[in-house]
Amino acid sequence: MNPNSEAIIEVDHLVRRFGDRAVLDQISFNVHRGETLVIMGGSGCGKSTLLRHMIGSMKPTTGSVKLFGEEITGMAEREIERVRLRFGMLFQSGALLASLTVGENVALPLFQHTKKSPDEIEQIVKQKLEIVGLTGFEDLKPDEISGGMKKRVGLARALALDPELLFSDEPTSGLDPIMTAVVDELTLNLTKGTHMTAVVVSHDMTSAFRIATRMIMLGHGSIVAQGTPDEIRNSSNPEVQQFIHGRADGPIPLNVSQEEHKDHQHVRPRPFLGARFRFHHKHP
Ligand SMILES: Nc1ncnc2c1ncn2[C@@H]1O[C@H](COP(=O)(O)OP(=O)(O)O)[C@@H](O)[C@H]1O
Ligand SMILES: [Mg+2]
Repeated sequence: MNPNSEAIIEVDHLVRRFGDRAVLDQISFNVHRGETLVIMGGSGCGKSTLLRHMIGSMKPTTGSVKLFGEEITGMAEREIERVRLRFGMLFQSGALLASLTVGENVALPLFQHTKKSPDEIEQIVKQKLEIVGLTGFEDLKPDEISGGMKKRVGLARALALDPELLFSDEPTSGLDPIMTAVVDELTLNLTKGTHMTAVVVSHDMTSAFRIATRMIMLGHGSIVAQGTPDEIRNSSNPEVQQFIHGRADGPIPLNVSQEEHKDHQHVRPRPFLGARFRFHHKHP
């Protein structure tokens, strides 16, 4: 890590409790200009919660978050709004407004936060949709396009204000491998050769290794490991190896959160899964 490079995000001893459970417990790390940091970890381990603290939509129990050198944890909503103009956010769900067209969704931040004319905005919308490969889709509604296209529209909208920093929460979840590669390629194109910094939450390891310049693995409220993709790949930490190879057996505790409780597949023993798979395979 170049010690001279500017820290754009500084997370310092961040603690977040829900009730008496610390979902984030003394988390500290920096993100430097030009990096693509991937935050990984099992579902329910606190990745989205961490991201929400980094964009100022949640306040920590204790600890601090600085964006562009400014402490955001004590800021009033109006002040945070000003900082938000400098970064884009691609939410897990895509979060497109169903009543607006694709073009209107991308135009929204421009109407809300700039004084640009409708003609100028139309040009910018065209340009952002071109970046994500959706030229000509302006007039469709979100429910008329595929999941992969929705994510790309979300990305175009996140880029509308030319942010220097981009946050994305599981940008490839629910996408097939080809569409995942397309979205990864877009992220790479945006960050390579520019000074854009990206923080991407992902539990897709193929995708994570494709885009990351640095990785952080979260688990039981703490940072389990961090380093370059090579350092993570070669880590001797058994938790890291279990996670990146997707093994059921290993040191990672099967902590069934309330969220996962609904999804009983998480706790099904493996032989049963195997039997089910073979059954479905023979009789599709
Ligand atoms: N607003 C909230 N109130 C209470 N518990 C929450 C809230 N948000 C998240 N949690 C809990 O915090 C844990 C981490 O959630 P989350 O950050 O969404 O995990 P991830 O994104 O890694 O899947 C989960 O157990 C979740 O149920
Ligand atoms: Mg999440």
